[in-house]
Amino acid sequence: MTRYIVRPMQYEDIEAVGEVERECFTTPWPASAYRRELRDNRMGRYIVLVEVADDDPSARSDQQRDASAENAGGVRRAVGHFLRPFGRQGSIATARERIVGFAGMWLMLDEAHVTTIGVKRELRGMGLGELLFSTLLQIAMDLGARRATLEVRVSNYSAQALYRKYGFHEEGIRRRYYSDNNEDALIMWSDVLTSPEFQTRYRAARARLEERLGDLIDIRL
Ligand SMILES: CC(C)(COP(=O)(O)OP(=O)(O)OC[C@H]1O[C@@H](n2cnc3c(N)ncnc32)[C@H](O)[C@@H]1OP(=O)(O)O)[C@@H](O)C(=O)NCCC(=O)NCCS
Repeated sequence: MTRYIVRPMQYEDIEAVGEVERECFTTPWPASAYRRELRDNRMGRYIVLVEVADDDPSARSDQQRDASAENAGGVRRAVGHFLRPFGRQGSIATARERIVGFAGMWLMLDEAHVTTIGVKRELRGMGLGELLFSTLLQIAMDLGARRATLEVRVSNYSAQALYRKYGFHEEGIRRRYYSDNNEDALIMWSDVLTSPEFQTRYRAARARLEERLGDLIDIRL
């Protein structure tokens, strides 16, 4: 069975992330931008989605996973069963692993600015983009962000639907924001992340995602 791990992005991932980026965006970030983000940007948080072949030794048993999860803190503490991590730093992708998604944000004062998210084309529609987005939001909440925001192409209905699922709504437009075709960007904002409205919606969406993805997923933050 193929499994999916979400873990922090590392320097060594950048080349593979670039490949997925090029599938996702007409103007992908160059590797140098990711290097700068990981090295210099203390406000940045980047995660990757790794597909793992089923015989990978790091795919440990539920019992081992539960034992290490007991030691977990921070974002680990706040997440539910399927978002429970193994409790160790993610490893560099090996030959048995491949990076199939990524996401990132900047935490500026009490705002989380989602900067990027993408999933390999052949794996879209399975809930994996939502897993990345939901995990970013969880990290933002754990780090005390009050609201989250992002820009999205006006024509990008699938991404907008994902964001609306988590209660993001339009609060403005940046005209001709995208330089490749001068397309406008919608500016979307979440509700206050600690509000009952957001929490209720977030928990319900994540519970459905958990049901959908089940044991396929491990979070190792
Ligand atoms: C946006 C993206 C990350 C979504 O990833 P994904 O794995 O395909 O999405 P999921 O399967 O997790 O879907 C989660 C939700 O997103 C929305 N969604 C995803 N694909 C959709 C589609 N084709 N049509 C309408 N809604 C869609 C739905 O609300 C869906 O929830 P549902 O399954 O309950 O209907 C992916 O399409 C992608 O990588 N796109 C290219 C890069 C990009 O546009 N990034 C966003 C920049 S702002």
